[in-house]
Formats: sequence, C-alpha cells, structure tokens
Amino acid sequence: MTTKPRHYHITTFGCQMNKADSERMAGILDEMGLTFVEDPNQADIVLYNTCTIRDNAEQKVYSYLGRQAKRKQENPNLTLIVAGCVAQQEGEALLRRVPELDLVMGPQHANRLQDLLEQVFEGSQVVATEPINIVEDITKPRRDSNITAWVNVIYGCNERCTYCVVPNVRGTEQSRTPEAIRAEMEELARAGYKEVTLLGQNIDAYGRDLPGSTPDGRHQHTLTDLLYYVHDIPGIERIRFATSHPRYFTERLIRACAELPKVCEHFHIPFQSGDNDVLKAMARGYTHEKYRRIINTIREYIPDASISADAIVGFPGETEAQFENTLKLVDDIGFDLLNTAAYSPRPGTGAALWENQLSEEVKADRLQRLNRLVNVKAMERSQRYRDRIEEVLVEGTNPKDPSQVMGRTRGNRLTFFKGNLAELSGELVKVKIIEVRAFSLTGEPIELYVTL
Ligand code: SAH
Ligand code: SF4
Ligand code: F3S
Repeated sequence: MTTKPRHYHITTFGCQMNKADSERMAGILDEMGLTFVEDPNQADIVLYNTCTIRDNAEQKVYSYLGRQAKRKQENPNLTLIVAGCVAQQEGEALLRRVPELDLVMGPQHANRLQDLLEQVFEGSQVVATEPINIVEDITKPRRDSNITAWVNVIYGCNERCTYCVVPNVRGTEQSRTPEAIRAEMEELARAGYKEVTLLGQNIDAYGRDLPGSTPDGRHQHTLTDLLYYVHDIPGIERIRFATSHPRYFTERLIRACAELPKVCEHFHIPFQSGDNDVLKAMARGYTHEKYRRIINTIREYIPDASISADAIVGFPGETEAQFENTLKLVDDIGFDLLNTAAYSPRPGTGAALWENQLSEEVKADRLQRLNRLVNVKAMERSQRYRDRIEEVLVEGTNPKDPSQVMGRTRGNRLTFFKGNLAELSGELVKVKIIEVRAFSLTGEPIELYVTL
C-alpha cells in the first residue's frame, strides 16, 4: 500500500440479510476512519456484497466486477472485495476468474472485515469462506435508515429445499441469544429508531440451536418467546419479522402477534408452489392444505392481516395443471404482495441435476401469467384501505414527488401523503387513505387537521 485508503463504496445485491451484513461492514469501515462514497469510481475500496439465489443475480455481479477489475489495472491501489453469497459459493474460483480481487469473503465473515483487510494491506490475496461461529457484533452498523432497522436473530438455514443455494452459502443455523437481540434493540431505541424487523432465512427455527431444550423436546427459546421478551422496549413502536416457513409456523405465534400491540399485522410466509407433488419435489415439508389452514388461522385471529409470500414457477417437471394449482392458491388467498420468480438451476442443489427441466419460454410464460394475477389480487386487497384511517410511520420523501413524505402502514403498504420530512420523520401519523393502487396508497394526514 503506497497511500492509505480513504474512501469506500459498497453495492449490495440480494435479500435483507445481505443488507444487514452490508450495514455492519460499512460500520467497520467507518470505524477504520474511511468515508463512504456513492460513486464506486471515486473509492479506494470497492466492496460488492453479492447474491446467488438465481443465475441473473450472480451474472450481474460479474459485470460490475469486470468494470472495477479494469479500473484496477490503471489504479493498483484500488482494493477490490467480493463478499456475500457468490463469494461463498465460488471461493478460490473467483480469484482465478478475476485475478484483480484482493478479498473474497463469505457471509459468515462479515464481522471480520477489519482483520481480513489488514491481511490484504500486508500484501496477500485473501479467501475467507470456511465455516465459523459468527462473532457477536462488535461494531456499530452504519444503517441506511434512522427510523427502521434490521436485527438478525438467526443466521443460516438447516432446510434442504431442492432448488435453494442458501444453506450452502449461509451455513447451518446459528441463533443469537435473546439477551444480545434485546440489547441491540435497546440501543436502537436509544438512537431513536422506531421499527425493528427481526431477520432469519427460516425465522421459525429461531432458538432450536440454543442450549435449554426441555425434556419433552420443546426448546425454550422460540420466536414466540423472543417476541414476548423484546416487545416492551420503550421507543420501539413496531416489530416485524421475516421469513416464516409454513412447516414450522405455529398457532402460538399467531396468538402472540394478535396479543402484542407492537407486532405488526403482516406475515411473510413463502409457499413456493400450490401443488402438493411440486411441494414434495421441492422438499418443503407441507401441503397446500396446510398452508391454507395457516392463513385461515391467521385470519381468524387477525382478520385484517396482510399476507405476503414468495413463489417459484417452472420448477423441474412442473406441468401446466400443477402450475394452475399455484394460480388457484393465489386466487383463493389473495396476497397483498407476492414475490415471484422463474426457477433457476443453482450449482450444488439437487433439482439443478434433474433431467426434467422446463424451457425458458414455458417459465417466462408462466411467470407472466402469475404476475398478472398477482397484480389483480393486490389491487383487490388494496381496496380495503380506501377511506380508512391508517397509522403510517414516516421514513422518507416520495422520490417521485418531493412535496410528499412516505412510510408504511402496519400491514406494510407503502403510503404517500403531503408533508415535510424534517417535521414528520420518525412520526407515527394517522392518515386517511384516499387513493389506492396495487402496491401503494395515497392519503391525507388527519392529525394535522386537529392541530390547525
Ligand atoms: N428462506 C426463505 C426464502 C429464501 S430465498 C424461504 O424459505 O421461503 C428467497 C426466495 O427466492 C425464495 O422464497 C424463492 O421463492 C426464491 N428462490 C430461491 N431459490 C430459487 C431458485 N433456484 N430459482 C428461483 N427462485 C428461487
Ligand atoms: Fe432456502 Fe428452503 Fe432454507 Fe428458505 S428454507 S433458505 S428456501 S433452503
Ligand atoms: Fe441472495 Fe444470499 Fe440472500 S443468495 S437471497 S443474498 S441469502
């Protein structure tokens, strides 16, 4: 190193776990005295925190990397880092593919960024992908928002869904202790945060790896217990959690959500397919009947709850009739939001090796048909908000209209209304909804009328 690096840039791909990891890595770089810059071309350290859930996510990373690798040929002081799930999946192979790289680090190593960088500054190319016990957070994350925050509760995933790379790249489940989670939330509250989303790939598995199982095999630390344990932190007004797995979802959890005022009425429970044979081939461990029962139970306890999910179309061997079962489930349930994807074969997963792969045309066609239905159903779901008064937590400005602020309802619908961010940021505002769209709402603040 001839000159000391001063500026860093991070681009994050993928899910909320990656975003949370990026915030911790940015916190480490801040503490090392570096400054974040928006433009990667102005940075001395460029870090890509990558995703490999589908092939297009992975390919995007290579095109970004290619540009920085070229820049490095002219500017040898540039430090190039690939973190996250592509790093874990490819390991050393990434160095062969992009020899300009200085550091390849899997998601479990995010908190070790400073150590790893010191090895790089001593002149080595470093690959950190071996499984480790994730060290408790030692740094202060540099969070993107000052209103809402993510808090990891369980890392990794022990499921073996046949399409999914996550267990390969995120390792086995590691729960944080309830005390560590509560401490992080208390600190967030002190810093003025209002909303916390508890994160895990399979959050219902929370606690089963912690010591303290009872003789009947039940573990003491469940997500439900955790919600009771953290819900009374003063200052935190809203608590969310994701992602739920239908196989482990319990009625006790629904009851806790109904009972605890800060826990928002929103459930994200991916179903992946509405067909039992496809679900079996995916190794999901439930039937569409069980999934429907879960949703019915939620709606018994919390009639207005928002339901969102993920679904995959074009899984190997999926017939037209099986795909129609997915359409039927979507039509019957009426999701507030559904993330849809065409199946993408992933290295190291079972289903990628099967011979009954479908053509890209069939997958694209099904994806389009499903998306059309999703829009129609989301629009139907949005109607219930019309003329209603909703509590909105103000998080920012409407990027399309600076005279409006934006936030979310408890049910997680994005909502816009006229207002000044400097005054309203972090406030819970009662808003009368006057306009509804499939995935967002517009309203008028009613509290302001009271004070006028
Ligand atoms: N842990 C969550 C999902 C994690 S991955 C769960 O169990 O539901 C996020 C979403 O990406 C998945 O819900 C799935 O819909 C999608 N996905 C995962 N692997 C995929 C693949 N190989 N092709 C297409 N979509 C995939
Ligand atoms: Fe992937 Fe299944 Fe784990 Fe979700 S539960 S992360 S889909 S293996
Ligand atoms: Fe992608 Fe890794 Fe998340 S593969 S979806 S960033 S766990």
